[in-house]
Amino acid sequence: MPAYRPPKIRSSEITPREVYLKRREFLGAATFGAMTLYGAGKASAAALTTVRSKYTVDEKLTPIKDVTTYNNFYEFGLDKGDPAALAGKFKPLPWTIKVDGMVNKPGTFDIEALMKEFPIEERVYRMRCVEAWSMVIPWNGFPLASLLDKVEPQGSAKYVAFETVVRPEEMPGQAGLFQSLNWPYVEGLRMDEARHPLALLAVGLYGETLPNQNGAPVRLVVPWKYGFKGIKSIVRITLTDQQPKNTWQVTNPQEYGFYANVNPAVDHPRWSQATERRIGESGFFGASRHPTLPFNGYADEVASLYDGMDLRVNF
Ligand code: MTE
Repeated sequence: MPAYRPPKIRSSEITPREVYLKRREFLGAATFGAMTLYGAGKASAAALTTVRSKYTVDEKLTPIKDVTTYNNFYEFGLDKGDPAALAGKFKPLPWTIKVDGMVNKPGTFDIEALMKEFPIEERVYRMRCVEAWSMVIPWNGFPLASLLDKVEPQGSAKYVAFETVVRPEEMPGQAGLFQSLNWPYVEGLRMDEARHPLALLAVGLYGETLPNQNGAPVRLVVPWKYGFKGIKSIVRITLTDQQPKNTWQVTNPQEYGFYANVNPAVDHPRWSQATERRIGESGFFGASRHPTLPFNGYADEVASLYDGMDLRVNF
């Protein structure tokens, strides 16, 4: 457990962005012109030029206020409000991602150059956390497969391993005597999962560059899996023939696995996974609950990746 008590977030810290976004409204399909926004003394958020994609869901978007103030990012603390309150010192630019391992063309790539090289798509995805809450988020990003193609994976590469930055001087959850997790936060995918068209490297949400608390400047989004697979602030991607370790499986193997596909039929040892609390919506008895869908509603696209596998065992 961390040795500090996090301050609570003040609403004055988020108002300017909210005002801006209310005025503009998110249209869900438009191409936005480039412009830059600067909050007073805060990290800047730049509007992204994005292209329409076929990936959307017919559900209400989670308000940006909830997407950016209810977060899991243990590098900044354990409470949901900690990342928004404590990520102000984090410097997401300049930023490079090293891509190495079993590839013909390893390299270290500047994220801003990649954002110019690959078209930035809008993708509205459901996001289901293993803690049984969910959101609907309009991400902006490019397919993970685009970056993998660039480095030319070798035939021997069966998995992709990911690593988050380690910067205790900017990430208070990584500093101090008592650590919640081992750093760096790590994750992994099987090669065919990583190459799946749904797997996204997100660089923005709601048409602007990612806020620090959401994993700036680049994080993974794999919407058919529990949210912890969506590793944030990625600095390294390694192609390998060994199944990579992932932070939550290492931390608590009784409760978390490598695959972590959303599955309402397999309960967490401490709670049911049959339904989820939709953040930002209120129902008659408090936050409204939705049924959880197999593969988080993406079964048509991804179920065939797991033909013949017992997903109750390979949780
Ligand atoms: N990545 C890093 N580096 N550190 C984290 O603590 N938390 C994960 C995932 N990625 C986490 C992370 C978990 S548990 C979830 S549910 C999602 O990020 C939350 O993403 P969000 O805060 O953008 O909703």
